[in-house]
Amino acid sequence: MDYPTAVRKQRVTLIRGDGIGPEITAAVEEIFDAAAVPIEWEEHFAGLECLHRFGTPLPEETLEAIVRTRVALKGPTTTPIGGGHKSINVTIRKALDLFANVRPARSLPGVRTRFENVDLIVLRENIEDTYGGIEHWQTPDVVQQLRIITRPGSDAFLRFAFELARSQGRRRITCVHKANIHKMTDGLFRERFYTIAAEYPELHADDILIDNLCMQLVVRPEAFDVLVLPNLFGDIVSDLCAGLVGGLGVAPGGNIGHGRAVFEAVHGSAPDIAGKGIANPTALLLSAVQMLHFLSLHRHAQRIEEALRLTLAAGIRTRDLGGNASTREFTRAIISNLRPLDFAEEPTLPPAPEPAPQPVSSTPDAPWQLRGMDLFVRSPEGLPQLPEKLGKLQLVMISNRGTKVYPGITPPILLVDWYRCRYLAEEALTHAELAAALAELTAAGVEWMHVEKLHHVNGTALYSKAQGEE
Ligand code: NAI
Repeated sequence: MDYPTAVRKQRVTLIRGDGIGPEITAAVEEIFDAAAVPIEWEEHFAGLECLHRFGTPLPEETLEAIVRTRVALKGPTTTPIGGGHKSINVTIRKALDLFANVRPARSLPGVRTRFENVDLIVLRENIEDTYGGIEHWQTPDVVQQLRIITRPGSDAFLRFAFELARSQGRRRITCVHKANIHKMTDGLFRERFYTIAAEYPELHADDILIDNLCMQLVVRPEAFDVLVLPNLFGDIVSDLCAGLVGGLGVAPGGNIGHGRAVFEAVHGSAPDIAGKGIANPTALLLSAVQMLHFLSLHRHAQRIEEALRLTLAAGIRTRDLGGNASTREFTRAIISNLRPLDFAEEPTLPPAPEPAPQPVSSTPDAPWQLRGMDLFVRSPEGLPQLPEKLGKLQLVMISNRGTKVYPGITPPILLVDWYRCRYLAEEALTHAELAAALAELTAAGVEWMHVEKLHHVNGTALYSKAQGEE
């Protein structure tokens, strides 16, 4: 078909994936073809099937193709449990810095759920938090994980979230966190949210604790509009929201980075139904619709979503939604519900937002002063015996599993063999003085596992207090 000069075909990387992946990507291709969407697919490979064929689950060319075409539609890929290759999705997100995960959760006609009129967008930060996977065994009984929240990472994600909310004409944007407990990490995320919110006065910006949000979502989800969350909370809440509108079979998603994006359904490769011709293509189709908005092909996106809604409203559903249509029957029904294409029609939405350029790491406005250390000590015999003074440093507190056990009475808690011992100085320390203190402890036979340096800036301590510490 010939397109007007204004409508050029855009190249998009297509990854079919494993299990039901080939069946549902074929359904999307067929619908896009019938709808004359100006897209040219460029097929590349990833997944278990790819591993068997090419010896790698994620070839370099696939990543290069996504970078070159900027956009990919991806079918689900199988991740072996308890060994084998790493999750391909996580690898793609990290390799391409796809820092925002966008999951719309919108009620669909004919899909029976407890709620009607749900219309949420869940935006999850996609790189940081506990997903850095920085974990270390500290002693034979204790393993630790680092939770990383950064100012530039939060800013890039939150700015994208506000731009998206603005471009979609949303009214309310809600920051979800646990800053009452995670005072510094979630505290920073929340602080950046309100700083950026000041630039978007037309959006009502508020915040809510994650536990309260979960309760409210399962009671009155229609009260919320756009939710922004750090990675782990976002992972959980986006699945909860998928459940509110009909579950995995209808939950789409997009992973967005600086000028590039990978769109895929929330569900996996569904090996239990693969090859049977009964998979529901809705979630991948809605992901592809999201992709069309990203490519500013809004009219095409609206036209396809409308055909999908008409199909579901007519009671044509796949088995997972209580119907008996096969993938093919469902696909054909959607195609028959496409309204005639009218190229004269103007787009009704503004173009999808381009994320802001990569922010650079900020330097602190005031000099940081080294003022002490948290020394993590292994001591299977109980409270470690440590010198009260080490040069300028004074032992001020020891905690176990986050609860203060020294000075004062040790509370009746389960103690593990890993103690955090805090040394502080009244004045600034040099690195050499800190190293000398460590050397003294080492010579005294103290088995220390790791050290965190403690800093002050403008008289403010840049570290948290232990529970029970004044
Ligand atoms: P799954 O999402 O593949 O399946 C869970 C259940 O939902 C199954 O009963 C399945 O039949 C059903 N289901 C899922 N999508 C459906 C659809 N479109 N139509 C009809 N029914 C559908 O989750 P599971 O079984 O835990 O994972 C299977 C594999 O997929 C694993 O290797 C997992 O690592 C991988 N996975 C991949 C993802 C991705 O590539 N984005 C995401 C989640 C899991």
